[in-house]
Amino acid sequence: MSLLRIENLEVAYGNIKALKGISLRVEEGEVVSLIGANGAGKTTTLQAISGLLRAKSGDILFKEKSIKKEKAYRISRAGIGHVPEGRRIFSDLSVEDNLIVATVAIKNNDMRINEDIEKIYGLFPVLKERKFQKAGTLSGGEQQMLAMARALLTQPKVLLLDEPSMGLSPLFVEKIFDTLKILKKAGKTILLVEQNVNLALDIADRAYVLETGKIVKEGKASDLKNDSAIKSAYLGI
Ligand SMILES: Nc1ncnc2c1ncn2[C@@H]1O[C@H](COP(=O)(O)OP(=O)(O)OP(=O)(O)O)[C@@H](O)[C@H]1O
Ligand SMILES: [Mg+2]
Repeated sequence: MSLLRIENLEVAYGNIKALKGISLRVEEGEVVSLIGANGAGKTTTLQAISGLLRAKSGDILFKEKSIKKEKAYRISRAGIGHVPEGRRIFSDLSVEDNLIVATVAIKNNDMRINEDIEKIYGLFPVLKERKFQKAGTLSGGEQQMLAMARALLTQPKVLLLDEPSMGLSPLFVEKIFDTLKILKKAGKTILLVEQNVNLALDIADRAYVLETGKIVKEGKASDLKNDSAIKSAYLGI
């Protein structure tokens, strides 16, 4: 049984077909990377899973149950956490208030909320140091960490990450991937969209390559890393 499964998914924006019948699966405990050039349909895929976009045809199954017609908030409550492209944190709230808002959405016990936030500070110490700072004044890398922390606080069964390294300096990219490695070791299930193909294939168990709305390749990440077509198209070697 796959935790998350997409079957022949088609999504269109008006007349533009962004996804032309893609299929993929994510098993429990796996890190799966979805790679592809700009405009390939990666964000569209994650948004369709989260219920932010509607499928034209095909199906999306979470624990083998179709979620394709569910509302976004119900999909999130069912255990699909989504860290969107561009992060979407509340800029005018403090770091800690951003975390509290994420937590009260699913819990109403103050003690547990404090415990959970302390735990998440353990994973992202920089957020603890800056807990009273307005989120909008954090650096890009810190904002990415806050966005990930918010999603993790809802204890998702699968985490969807849309380009976590986008626009970050090499040091922050490394930090984000170090955190992903910790999450992977802890057994978290992750569907990762990344343009940094090298890092995406290093961390993933399996990967899919998306080109203009179609999956053109899939397999073990280590095999894809040695694939000559992938090497020349995405790794520049
Ligand atoms: N709101 C929209 N209206 C019309 N077309 C859209 C819309 N959003 C995306 N598209 C188109 O759908 C296709 C897939 O876009 P998508 O954002 O999923 O790509 P992506 O793989 O995430 O790209 P990037 O790496 O640049 O983030 C693109 O051709 C894009 O122009
Ligand atoms: Mg995108």
